[in-house]
Amino acid sequence: MKIGILTSGGDCPGINATIRGVCKSALYHYGMEVWGIQAGFLGLLNGEMAPITDPQLSGLLNLGGTFLGTSREKPFKKKGVQDPDKKPRIILDTIERCGFDALVCIGGNGTQKTANKLAQAGVNVITIPKTIDNDVWGTDLTFGFDSAVSIATDAIDRLHSTASAHRRVMVIEVMGHKAGWIALYSGMAGGGDIILLPELPYDMRNIGGAIIDRLKRGKNYSIVVVAEGIKCPDGKRAAQYIAEEIEYETGFETRETVLGYIQRGGSPTAFDRNLATRMGGYATQLIAEGKFGEMVALRGGDITSLPLAEIAGKTKLVDEHHDLIEQGRRMGICFG
Ligand code: F6P
Repeated sequence: MKIGILTSGGDCPGINATIRGVCKSALYHYGMEVWGIQAGFLGLLNGEMAPITDPQLSGLLNLGGTFLGTSREKPFKKKGVQDPDKKPRIILDTIERCGFDALVCIGGNGTQKTANKLAQAGVNVITIPKTIDNDVWGTDLTFGFDSAVSIATDAIDRLHSTASAHRRVMVIEVMGHKAGWIALYSGMAGGGDIILLPELPYDMRNIGGAIIDRLKRGKNYSIVVVAEGIKCPDGKRAAQYIAEEIEYETGFETRETVLGYIQRGGSPTAFDRNLATRMGGYATQLIAEGKFGEMVALRGGDITSLPLAEIAGKTKLVDEHHDLIEQGRRMGICFG
């Protein structure tokens, strides 16, 4: 069999480990031929692709980014496009011309949507979910998330000492798009005093009150972890808005930090390397079994798969009753 593999959407730690998992099992175990497509769906539009050979599969486990490159190309996008059938046509032609028996798409929510459209058009697609945001519906976890949480937690740890030295309020904004997974997990692991998620409403008076209460209990600094996706007026960045409002409400000197792309860069954690490897190998197994139109998923500790049609267009948000929130509330952490 001849398979094509691409990575699409924002990069994250663990992508190279999953490409390695797909390719090594395809080459060594199943005797398949694998072609690497450059820069996501763009590579299928401009024909940028080449066979992946054994020597390329070394040194990938701990390598950040994606050696195939990525892009946010959405070939099925209709809005503002003159001839919306053009790109899908080119892509389907390319897949046929190249003789791909299957296409592996590694990506987040946007990729699941595009892959589902390709599956509906008759392409044998398998997807592997990846994103630091952990917001892909149908899988308990995405690889990249654990690495991002560990980077964000380290950053929050470092803010404690400077916040304490200056008796300041420190606001840190973490990524996550419209979901609060990174804020919740890094906020709890890093001992945040106030954690704001897009999924939960917040009231600046509660936040100010929580900071003043802490002072009354002898705690003269506070750490506020804010998800980038919380609602803010005037198109302001989350950290900037919350820091300004805290100063206004409490009169405390407040500083903000936007962690940004550092969360997406560098080496994956051991957990992410293993999750990525398991998912990659399973994708190849699905191809060998001829089971297509599926997304590989982690569910209850097992690697399995779900129909793309069930996943496309959905987002996995943090449940307001998540046990980290419930336990955090009991411990006096303010969630807004
Ligand atoms: O999906 C990963 C992510 O890093 C989000 O957390 C963030 O909102 C977005 O990508 C940033 O997108 P871009 O790479 O296009 O700036």
